[in-house]
Formats: sequence, structure tokens, C-alpha cells
Amino acid sequence: MQQNLQFFSHPIKKELINLLIFFSLILTSIVGYNVFTPLQPNSIFNINFLTQILPEKGSGSKICDYSYGKWIYDETRPVIKYTENCPFLDPGFRCQQNGRHDLDYQKWRWQPKACNLPRFDAKNFLERSRNRRIVFAGDSIGRNQWESLICMLTQGVSNQSTIYEEHGNPITKHKGFLSIKFQEYNLTVEYYRVPYLVIIDRPPPNAPKEVYRVIRVDRLHWFSSKWVGADVLVFSAGHWWNQDKTIKSGYYFQEGEYVNMTMDVMEAFRRSMNTLKQWAMQSLEPGKTHVLFRSYSPVHYRNGEWNNGGYCNTSREPETDHSKLDPEPLNNMIMHEVVEQMKSAMRTVQFINITYLTEFRKDGHPSSNREPGTPIDAPQDCSHWCLPGVPDTWNELLYAELLRMGFRTRPT
Ligand SMILES: *[C@@H]1O[C@H](CO)[C@@H](O)[C@H](O)[C@H]1NC(C)=O
Ligand SMILES: *[C@@H]1O[C@H](CO)[C@@H](O)[C@H](O)[C@H]1NC(C)=O
Ligand SMILES: *[C@@H]1O[C@H](CO)[C@@H](O)[C@H](O)[C@H]1NC(C)=O
Ligand SMILES: *[C@@H]1O[C@H](CO)[C@@H](O)[C@H](O)[C@H]1NC(C)=O
Ligand SMILES: *[C@@H]1O[C@H](CO)[C@@H](O)[C@H](O)[C@H]1NC(C)=O
Repeated sequence: MQQNLQFFSHPIKKELINLLIFFSLILTSIVGYNVFTPLQPNSIFNINFLTQILPEKGSGSKICDYSYGKWIYDETRPVIKYTENCPFLDPGFRCQQNGRHDLDYQKWRWQPKACNLPRFDAKNFLERSRNRRIVFAGDSIGRNQWESLICMLTQGVSNQSTIYEEHGNPITKHKGFLSIKFQEYNLTVEYYRVPYLVIIDRPPPNAPKEVYRVIRVDRLHWFSSKWVGADVLVFSAGHWWNQDKTIKSGYYFQEGEYVNMTMDVMEAFRRSMNTLKQWAMQSLEPGKTHVLFRSYSPVHYRNGEWNNGGYCNTSREPETDHSKLDPEPLNNMIMHEVVEQMKSAMRTVQFINITYLTEFRKDGHPSSNREPGTPIDAPQDCSHWCLPGVPDTWNELLYAELLRMGFRTRPT
């Protein structure tokens, strides 16, 4: 022991040891990587990969913040080359087919300030997901992201006929539940439509007349029984929690048997998030299910709201004027707070903060290029996203977070 200490304290020998540690780190990461991507040995030379795995000099255990950075115009985009012909895209997200002509919105790359995002590797993601279930639950922004991920993953499969909806259902917004099977990997990527996360119900008999429906903030949606056992669970929430979609539409909040006519929308959202948190802590096996809350996706209605002539069809590039960015929405803070509470009890929980990066992307919405059959005077869509497009970047962050959590094929 004494000898060892002396050995390390010698300056030259210390450098030698560091060098040895450095090379053995490279070796172990290459070997480790090969186990997960036997089909792509070349990608071990990918620079991003090495800079991600190797600890940064002097940075200790500092975790890189992917949420802060800038958009860079990159002619080589999209690198993740799926197209609007991906069969799993909702007609409403195929902006080119619906009349949009510029392609610039597909060419922006998110560059975090202090580090690089790992390159999205569909085959590697699929290999890690073998015999697993990836579940998206939440509102239609979550479906938007789910479709993006499926199309990104199809790039890692040679025979496209081996990817299909398990029950033969078409991909439309009208379905409450859809499950895409990647047969070669025995993987399902599922979507459950639960815009409020909790149960929507008829009002109890004693409720005031103006109550059309109740949002039961203490009862998680019954779909939740299907989420138990998922390996990855991605939540999309908060977008329906506003005055228009609740109280102004006759949707009031119920706790127990009592409809609380004065409960504020954000307070109701907080309570619903708490209901979800309690369910997760009771029902999910710690370490098995990776729970990710994707943060609030901003809308970009200009000169009005969605229901009174607001539009976004004139935006052809991301916002450059920082003063035009909206402040952090309260929904986000509530989600973040609940995730932090969950983290103290469950290791594999993460908040994916895409709000700031998405705030710039007023150019990425379907706007007036809506799906065929939409009435000519219908409002523009400045809340969902064209695909390929912005949600692909969210999925790059999702992939990065899963790598960080050590998500990999379960040992058999
Ligand atoms: C999300 O990220 C942005 C940019 O880094 C940051 O300003 C904001 O505080 C973050 N929000 C939360 C709730 O963590
Ligand atoms: C396929 O994956 C499911 C989990 O999603 C698992 O229960 C089942 O055993 C797997 N089938 C095979 C043949 O490995
Ligand atoms: C592709 O998969 C389908 C469905 O499993 C199968 O019928 C077909 O033979 C496969 N094609 C090739 C070229 O392997
Ligand atoms: C109704 O909800 C508010 C919170 O928004 C709470 O302060 C109040 O106590 C509730 N009323 C009853 C009778 O539970
Ligand atoms: C954008 O939409 C507005 C409102 O519908 C319309 O008046 C305008 O002509 C459109 N502009 C372009 C460039 O398409």
C-alpha cells in the first residue's frame, strides 16, 4: 500500500497511469458498444460517441444540459432520413403533401451549448429495446412525438413489412390506443390518448348546472393499468390545462365526490400530476420502467389565439429575436417539481426539457397546411408539428437521456 502511494505521487509515473486508464476506458467503451450494436462496428469511430462516453477533463460528474443552446442551419439535414412517406404518419403532419413547399424547417439542428447530443442511431436504439415496450401516454403532442420516433426507428429495419400496427388500425387522431410492433426486435411502441392524464367523467347528481363534465384530479385514467410493466414511459401533459379546454367548456374539477367550482386550472393540474406520481411510486417496478416527462411544447399563434384568427403560416425560419420568446409556462414548473419529487424515490425518472428549444421553432407547425378535408375556414394548426420536423429533436434528447440512464437490453 505504501509503495502504491509513492508510485502515484511520482509525477511522471502518474501521467503514465493516467494514459493507461485512458486507453483502457476507450477499450472498454468500444467493447461495451459492440455488444449492443453488433451490426454496426464502424460507428465506434463516431466522434460524438467518444466525446459522450469519455469523461470530460476536469468536469467530474457534471451533467450536460441539453435544454440550452442554439439552432444551427445544416444543409445535410435531415440526417435521420425518413420522409413523409413513412406509413405511420398522421395525414395532419405531412405538411409537404398538404401544400407546404419550403423544406427549410427540416434542416435545423439543435446544438446544446456545452456538449454534443449523441448521434441518433436507430439500430442501436432498437437493439437496446429488444423484447421491450416503449409507451407514450398523454395528449396529441405526445402522439406527434410517438409518430416521429416510430419513423426514426424504421430507419434501422431493412424489411419495412415487419413493422405494423398490432391490431391493423390506421394511424389517425381518432384512436385512443395504438401499438406499433417491430417484429424483428419483438418491440412495441405504444400510444395511449389521455389528454388530462386523469379520468373525465359525467358530473355527479348534485353538481351545478354549468358542469358539463368533470375532470377527476384524484383518479388516474384507467389506461394506466396498461402502462404497468412498460420499459420506457414517456408522458406528454399540460397542453389541455387552460381555461378554454376546461372551465370555459364546462369541464370542472372533482375531488372525491365533490365538484370544486373554484379550483384553479394550475392547481388542478398540480393535483393530477400528484395523482400520477403516487400511481407511479406504487405501481412501477423501480429500475425497470424508465419514466420520462417531456416538457411543455409551446404554441405560436400570432395576432390572435387558435380560436380567433391567430396564425403562424408566415414563419419560414426559427425566431431570432429573443425578446419574442414566451416566458417559462407554469405547467412546466409544476411538471418539473413533481419529477424532482419522484426522482428522490425512483432512480429512472427524468424531465426532458424541450420548451426553450421549441420556443424558437415558430416555423415548424402545419399552420394552414392541414390534412385533406379540413374546412377552408378552420383555424391554423400552430400547436402540432410537421414531420419530419421538430419532434425528431425531442427524440434525440429522449435517446440521449435513455443512454444516460443506462437503458439497455435486459439480460436474459
Ligand atoms: C428548461 O430549459 C430552459 C433552457 O435551459 C431553462 O431556462 C428553464 O428554466 C428550464 N425549465 C425547467 C422547468 O427546468
Ligand atoms: C417479447 O416481448 C415481451 C415484452 O414486451 C415479452 O413478454 C415476451 O416474452 C417476448 N417474446 C419473446 C419471444 O422473447
Ligand atoms: C418481409 O417481411 C414480410 C412479413 O414478415 C415477409 O412476408 C417477407 O417475405 C419479407 N421479405 C423479405 C425480402 O424478407
Ligand atoms: C377548492 O379548491 C381550492 C384550491 O384551488 C381549495 O383551496 C379549496 O379548499 C377547495 N374547496 C373545497 C371545499 O375543498
Ligand atoms: C396566412 O394566413 C392568413 C390568415 O389566414 C392569410 O390571410 C394569409 O394570406 C396567409 N399568408 C400566407 C403567406 O400564406
